[in-house]
Amino acid sequence: MQFSERISRISVSTTTAVVAKADKLKASGIDVVDFGAGEPDFPTPDNVKRAAIKALQENFTKYTPTGGIRDLKQAIVERHAQDFGSEYSPEECLVTVGGKQAIFEAVAATLNHGDEAILPVPYWVSFLDIINYAGGKPVLLATREDENFAVRSEAVEKLITPKTKLIIINSPSNPTGAVVPPEEMEKLLALAVRHGIMLMSDECYCRFLYDGHKPYSLGNSKNRENLIIVGSLSKTYAMTGWRVGFALGSSKLLTNMLKLQSHSTSNATSIAQKAAVEALRGPQDSVATMLAEYERRRNHIVDGLRSIPGLKCVMPEGAFYVYPNVSSYLKKDGIADTTVLASRLLDDAKVALVPGPAFGTNEHVRMSYATSQEKIDKGLQRLRDFLVSL
Ligand SMILES: Cc1ncc(COP(=O)(O)O)c(C=O)c1O
Repeated sequence: MQFSERISRISVSTTTAVVAKADKLKASGIDVVDFGAGEPDFPTPDNVKRAAIKALQENFTKYTPTGGIRDLKQAIVERHAQDFGSEYSPEECLVTVGGKQAIFEAVAATLNHGDEAILPVPYWVSFLDIINYAGGKPVLLATREDENFAVRSEAVEKLITPKTKLIIINSPSNPTGAVVPPEEMEKLLALAVRHGIMLMSDECYCRFLYDGHKPYSLGNSKNRENLIIVGSLSKTYAMTGWRVGFALGSSKLLTNMLKLQSHSTSNATSIAQKAAVEALRGPQDSVATMLAEYERRRNHIVDGLRSIPGLKCVMPEGAFYVYPNVSSYLKKDGIADTTVLASRLLDDAKVALVPGPAFGTNEHVRMSYATSQEKIDKGLQRLRDFLVSL
């Protein structure tokens, strides 16, 4: 059986593969410290769970409109307006099955075969594969570690060609936690408008910003025709398994994205939509609690990593990942690259993390600190012992 050329352009998400291998070891009773998973270790808040139970009890268990229930669209645009000062209408909102589906549909609706999409490196692995699947050509924008992986509009502009259709920005970034400052975001949007291309802003981690940075969105700018915002309740409300995300953009673009959704998943799960309304409209204190805890863990893990000889680590400004540079430990003891390093770390030291090639770089590994302080300490100790023994 010959499978399609289209499907051979992509591979299973490396992050998912690491999580699967670590889960298998854990299931067999092995004590693995897991820095692999990109999801909050907090439970979904109780008020959100209660809303889902109520929806079930009220038999809200049938198909809903493909693009989401009106109440949820309203709750999304109201929360966005409250948090960022944007002015979207429910017609400019599409509810999707996780943020991933919003990204997939937006890319599919934007790119023709051979169209170029500019993607800063390090990138979240799914952006690359989604562009490839859509038949687009990823054009990678290198950033510098000694500039905290900053994305600069002048550098983006240099990559624009007549074939450029899309620029993808993810701030705060998975995997580096780097934040694109508001002035630079405005410049990127102006650039997209000037060249008639689409700017996708992935706001999946937008509420997790440290050092007093204020949450910011391009959604409050005037030129919204060239902007598509993708968002998610997964991380903000510890709802990764519920699968609720959204897109905010022009109704023309959303109508095209909806076509794809109508022939694939249809609506996001009915009871998850009701839970999402409660998450967005109910008390927001759980978000502040998680943010404070993540910031404490970030400081702790960065201090710990920087104390390991030869290891460099940029201070992330948001999200819940660190992206240390492990190059001084490569080529030692048969460790050819970070993929071998990650594999050896899992097998020998029982520490799970994701090697850099998943994010487009060769000298780093990604560690998620959405895990308890105790596990962070245990994992750091194992990592240190393993590395210094090489
Ligand atoms: C940068 C980024 N965007 C989007 C998503 C999608 O999340 P979900 O599909 O759970 O909403 C993720 C998940 O890891 C992510 O890291």
